[in-house]
Amino acid sequence: MNKISVMGGRKLEGEVNISTAKNSVLPIIAASILSGEKCVIDEAPMLEDVFVISDVLRTISTDININEEANRIVIDSSNIKDCEPCSSLVKKMRASFLIMGPMISRFGKFKLSLPGGCNIGTRPIDLHLKGFSALGAEVNVGHGYVEAQAKKLVGNKIYLDFPSVGATENIMMAAVMAEGETIIENAAEEPEIEDLGKYLNNMGANIIGAGTDTVRIIGVKNMKGTTHKPICDRIEAGTFMVAAAITRSKIKINGVNEEYLKPIIAKLTEAGVKITSDGNSIYVDADRDLKPIDIKTMPYPGFPTDMQSQMAGLLCTIKGTSVITETIFENRFMHAAEMKRMGANIKIDGRSSIIEGVDKLTGAEVRATDLRAGAALILCGLVAEGETEITDVYHIDRGYVSIEKKLQGLGADIRRIMV
Ligand code: EPZ
Repeated sequence: MNKISVMGGRKLEGEVNISTAKNSVLPIIAASILSGEKCVIDEAPMLEDVFVISDVLRTISTDININEEANRIVIDSSNIKDCEPCSSLVKKMRASFLIMGPMISRFGKFKLSLPGGCNIGTRPIDLHLKGFSALGAEVNVGHGYVEAQAKKLVGNKIYLDFPSVGATENIMMAAVMAEGETIIENAAEEPEIEDLGKYLNNMGANIIGAGTDTVRIIGVKNMKGTTHKPICDRIEAGTFMVAAAITRSKIKINGVNEEYLKPIIAKLTEAGVKITSDGNSIYVDADRDLKPIDIKTMPYPGFPTDMQSQMAGLLCTIKGTSVITETIFENRFMHAAEMKRMGANIKIDGRSSIIEGVDKLTGAEVRATDLRAGAALILCGLVAEGETEITDVYHIDRGYVSIEKKLQGLGADIRRIMV
């Protein structure tokens, strides 16, 4: 298992280029099987999760060519024979569930092993399945599997009890070739959903309002191949903004869309960070005293849960009391125990974490418990006294392309230890 070692105490400087979004490219790869024609994804992020969802689709005879040098993925699903992908791979990554919608839409059936446990929460799929049933599918759950079949899918009005990102995406993909019109109300509004809507429309779908709380899908007869470049990764960009803030540095971040970063910019500005932008770059100037703030994670356009751990790391270094409330997942404070090993002062009270800033963090051996917690520990290592060693870095590689190389490019003393 690889480790990442960070020697703390260095300021960052220079600029970093952000990759395209993991949470955009995963549903887009899934959507590509809606058409039996070739689909091409350019500037795709070469991430572990991309490799896993590709392997899942290969187990049902989808031909996927990943060119890591060219950052290009070519998907040909003309030979898909069955709709029961390999269970061990499906259980490896929750995003595998994004193939349910495309499969029920194109083939009228699927059978998948139910999601395994996940570190940040139970992560049910009830809203996805309710959506499929509303479109006329017969859904059965049992013996560790979920399966569905539908002779015909018919459009319907679906109200989501919670604006679930995955459920919104899956129902959109299930409805693209349904008979008539589908309306999803209380839909998730994340930018990745707008990007998926664009991709589906380029494939021939007729979707209006993707990225808003009401999405209309008018069923079409068939879908065709297309080429697409996913949007920037707003969570990677936010992670590097916090890297600048926690080291009190000035850096430039390229390849971003400021619109998607508004909630992150708002909270960092409230803490005293100076942030300006021009075109698709932002300038972060944190070489100044910062102040404690309170954060509550919410569905987009609220503050993203995927930035919660990283902000916790920053707030550990700001004198005063900060409170973070996590409203999306029930167990997303696992970074706290690891940060306390570095001298952080964090108390968990239900859905809230109360953080007292400390004078300094000290390097320690810590464990990445999940993707964003792992990234947050690297950020803490950047400013801790001495060496921090992060184990289980495979979590981090799921969502960040060469994070240590990008931080090295900003002057950090960080290296990957192959074990
Ligand atoms: C997506 O997960 C992202 N993953 C997550 O990013 C992100 O944290 C999450 O959205 C929230 O923004 C991808 O896009 C691949 P949800 P998803 O359905 O779709 C409950 C990262 O770090 N819920 O919006 O699984 C669920 O339990 C990852 O990049 C139901 O109750 O998130 C959770 O509490 C982590 N029933 C809440 O909704 C359902 O059927 C949000 O889940 C579905 C969800």
